[in-house]
Amino acid sequence: MQDVGLTAEIARLKEERNAVVLAHSYQRPEIQDAADFVGDSLALARAAQQTQCDVIVFCGVHFMAETACILNPTRTVLLPDAAASCSLESGCPASELASFLESNREKNYYVIAYINCSIGVKALADVIVTSGNSQQIVAAAPKDRPILFVPDENLGAWTAQKTGREMTLWKGSCHVHQRFTHDQIMRAKQQHPDAEVVCHPECREVVRALADCICSTEKMIGYCRKSAAKQFIIVTETGILHRLRKLVPEKLFIPVVIEPCGCAECEYMKLNTLEKLRNCLRDMSPVVSLPEDLRLRALKPLERMLELSQ
Ligand code: 13P
Ligand code: SF4
Repeated sequence: MQDVGLTAEIARLKEERNAVVLAHSYQRPEIQDAADFVGDSLALARAAQQTQCDVIVFCGVHFMAETACILNPTRTVLLPDAAASCSLESGCPASELASFLESNREKNYYVIAYINCSIGVKALADVIVTSGNSQQIVAAAPKDRPILFVPDENLGAWTAQKTGREMTLWKGSCHVHQRFTHDQIMRAKQQHPDAEVVCHPECREVVRALADCICSTEKMIGYCRKSAAKQFIIVTETGILHRLRKLVPEKLFIPVVIEPCGCAECEYMKLNTLEKLRNCLRDMSPVVSLPEDLRLRALKPLERMLELSQ
């Protein structure tokens, strides 16, 4: 079936099911175009919390759909491909974090967890952050307790630099952002000398050091719109290029070339397709469901984050 037919079927099923389709900025262009709302993790968490629809179809990765479920348990949350995981989430199993906290009990860590983690890790955290609000949340952390930041050492190091707060960093990273190197960015800068470099904080320090702006995917749109520059080298997953080109059509957005495979794609984000979006609405599956006691424990730090980042 052509995309047009599929898109029409999705629109019909959405109506029938009273569903809202939320999509992350790294989703395939056709999914972004079919969605009711596209955003970064923070905007999507807020949208999931506020929706009145019976069904939330979360076009993103598992921890994002799980977050929607934690925040809005009376709705049915569907994830078009249940295998859409995240390397940051896999790099910090809740059992390992629990043992680390147990063996460092005397430190009484204040645990700050990047939203890219499992419900088990969220349940062990004092507060959650996203790339869009990490500075605000870390700055508000109690001054009399040491901070443990999990699971992304790059976002953690950048936030520590920006806030001046010392933090113990969990050794985890995103395999997609980890592939960007200093040399690649230098090459892109030589080829496009008038372009500004806009980079996600999940990138390594040597890459961040070359950026004119470091921010979440959502903030990239505002930055590129306002900047006097006409060209931008975008150092994050390629899905954001579709959004940038659509919302800021008068400017040029350049992806970074990564050898040998071309560009930075998150294979988990790309697991969702238009067909799977249609199928999940048709079959009302795969559903994301959570144990209630764990959900309630994970809800507290998420609500704290939403309160602090009003
Ligand atoms: P944003 O919240 O900036 O969209 O980032 C989410 C993510 O998974 C980055 O890899
Ligand atoms: Fe996770 Fe990286 Fe994919 Fe984002 S890009 S969802 S951090 S694996």
